[in-house]
Parts: sequence; C-alpha cells; structure tokens
Amino acid sequence: MQWIKEGDVEFLADVSGEGRGPGRRSGVFYNPAMRLSRDLTVLFAAYQTKERGEITFFDALAGSGVRGMRVMKEGGQIGEAGINGIFVDLEEEAVEAIKNSLERNNLEGVVIQGDVLKLFGEVRADFLDIDPYGSPAQFLPEALRSVKHGGILAITATDTAPLSGTYPSTCLRRYMAWSHKVDFHKETALRILLGYAIRIAASREIALTPLLSYYRDHYLRAFFRVERSRSRARELLRNVAHLLLKRGTLIRRVVWIYRGGWETPRDFILLGPMWMAETSRISVLKRLSPLAEMGGYEEALTLLNALKDEVGYPPWYFEVNEVARLLYREPLSMEKVRSRIEEEGFRFARTHYSKSAFKTDAPPDFLGRILYGVER
Ligand SMILES: C[S@@+](CC[C@H](N)C(=O)[O-])C[C@H]1O[C@@H](n2cnc3c(N)ncnc32)[C@H](O)[C@@H]1O
Repeated sequence: MQWIKEGDVEFLADVSGEGRGPGRRSGVFYNPAMRLSRDLTVLFAAYQTKERGEITFFDALAGSGVRGMRVMKEGGQIGEAGINGIFVDLEEEAVEAIKNSLERNNLEGVVIQGDVLKLFGEVRADFLDIDPYGSPAQFLPEALRSVKHGGILAITATDTAPLSGTYPSTCLRRYMAWSHKVDFHKETALRILLGYAIRIAASREIALTPLLSYYRDHYLRAFFRVERSRSRARELLRNVAHLLLKRGTLIRRVVWIYRGGWETPRDFILLGPMWMAETSRISVLKRLSPLAEMGGYEEALTLLNALKDEVGYPPWYFEVNEVARLLYREPLSMEKVRSRIEEEGFRFARTHYSKSAFKTDAPPDFLGRILYGVER
C-alpha cells in the first residue's frame, strides 16, 4: 500500500492493474483510469449542494475511499454547502486505510466495515454511489432504500462484455435483456443498463430518471434522480422498449413493449428492453460545465460538451464503416457524411461513444439515399 494523490486528496491504496483495465482485486483497490468518473461524481455532489444545501454522500463500495473523500473536500469547495461522508467496505484493510486517509486530509466521516447489502435499509443519504467490481445488478433494488426522495444514485458497470453482446446469455440473466454484438453496441449496453435500473426501481414504486450517463473505456456510468413516485415510475417505463434490427440492412425498429407488443419477424435481431429517451439531461450538463471549468476538470468538461452535442438526437449512432459495408459502398469521410446529411435538411452530431460514428435525425431507411444515392 502507498500514499497516492488524486484531485485534492491523499489516500492509501494499491494501484490496480496495468493501463486502463479494471485490474487486480487484491489489496485496497484503486484504479487511476476511473478518475473521470470520480471527477464527475465530485461535480454532481457540488451541484446537489446548490439544490439541497448540506448533503450526505454514501460511498457504499468505498475501496480506498478516494471517491467519497474527494466529494467531501472538492465538492465542498466548489459547491454551496458542506458534504458529509459515509464509507462502507467489506474488507478490514480498506476500512483501516480509509480511516488513516480521512485523518491525513483533515476530514471526518463515518466508516463501517461490513456487507453493504445488509446496511442499505439503515443508512440514508442524499447521494449513493455504487461502484462495484463488475455489475451493479446485485446491489439493486436494495440500494434504493438508502437514497432519500429527490436524491441521486450513481452506478458503475464494468461488465461491458455481457452488456455489449459478447455474452448475451449472461446479459439476459443479469439484466433480463437481450444484447447482441451490433456496431452500436456501446449505446445498446448503456441503454440496457439504464432500462434495467429503471424497471427494477419501478417494481419498488421508485422512479429513476437518468440525469447523465456515458460509456468510456472499460466501464459505463449513470447518475439518476431517485423519486418515490408510483406514477412517475410508470411514466418512465413507457420509454423502455426493445429494438429490432433487420439483418444485413440499416433498418431499426422500436418495439414499445410497455405500450403494446409485437412478434419478432425472422430476419430481425431483437435487443433490449432498454431505455429509449435521453441518456443525459441538457439542464444537468449545462449546470455541471461551469463547475468543471471552475475546478479545472478538463477531461470532464470535454465529455460534458460531447454529451451536450448528442442531446436531442434519436437513439442509435451509426458507424461510418458499417453503413458503407451494408450499402456495398466505400466509407465516406466524416465531413462528407455531415455535409450530405445537412444538405438534405437533417441534423448531424459526433458521439462520445466512438470517434468513427455519428448521430442523425435522418431516418435510417433513408440514409442510403442521403449518403450514397442508393435505395437500400
Ligand atoms: C471497485 S472497488 C471500489 C472502488 C472505489 N469506489 C473507487 O472509486 O476507487 C469495489 C469495492 O467494493 C468492496 N465490496 C465488494 N462487495 C462488497 C459488499 N457486499 N459490501 C461492501 N463492500 C463490498 C470491495 O472490497 C472493493 O473495495
């Protein structure tokens, strides 16, 4: 174990793995590649103090506790009120490290060693963070009991392989949704995760509204508003649906399962159910950007700007190469794609999911005509 610095805090941990992967699990876990996720957590907590005044942040799978400590220290500095911290971890080594690190940073927090699944009903917070190894599925819906009405739940998922269609049967069991290895698999992964959380919460009469969510490197991250409201939970379900893809074409059809059903035709691939409405809220992105600018969180600012550009577009990005392949044509440059789409009066945006992909409000069925003058 060693002293490490991230943001404004110093903490004890073992650096995990080489490069950007999730890495090893022994010792007190710390993955530097997840810094952006922690920067955004800080910004969200600061944003929450503007809405709610003093808040309590619950770092439920704390590891080294770096997340909660940064939230307390930096979030408190750029926010408008103090932030209290509650830290839980199963491992004694982690809990001891957190206690030492809190002292080093002149912070006072509640630190508990134990299985957080047994604590969710007892601890209540304004902001709950679920940052597990792998999938957050096992912690929902119990975790929802810990979030106050109007509070925030943040979840991380590093099980990208099932969610993005490499292991569809694991995805079906874990998230009760069909995944498939499609070219826009990062977006289906994110929407399956959102759809799952929203369905599970609805079964407990809790409404989870996605406020900001993204896919990055080896993980997915989502921030939700938590409300105890049956009617709102029901309303959110209307935006959870399946997607049907016609094999060998660009045709994509939404099957609104919670508005009425439809059988799967033979030459379509069925995915989902998943969340079909906005994955991030423009009002939230606009409020976080100045905080990111003020605090010098440059990577977070770049991501926030990229997410802003995507708001207002229909789901499903298009990979330039895949569009060309399905239409038996050569790939176009991104600038050509943009100009042809805009010349036809449709909107075009780059997407945070992939550098070689774009979003548009042009109907997929017309994309061949717009880009290449072909009817397929
Ligand atoms: C991915 S690490 C957390 C990383 C940390 N949040 C960060 O930002 O660096 C997951 C942590 O959850 C702990 N953990 C796993 N299952 C748990 C459970 N049921 N209750 C409490 N802690 C648990 C592990 O010991 C590990 O430290």
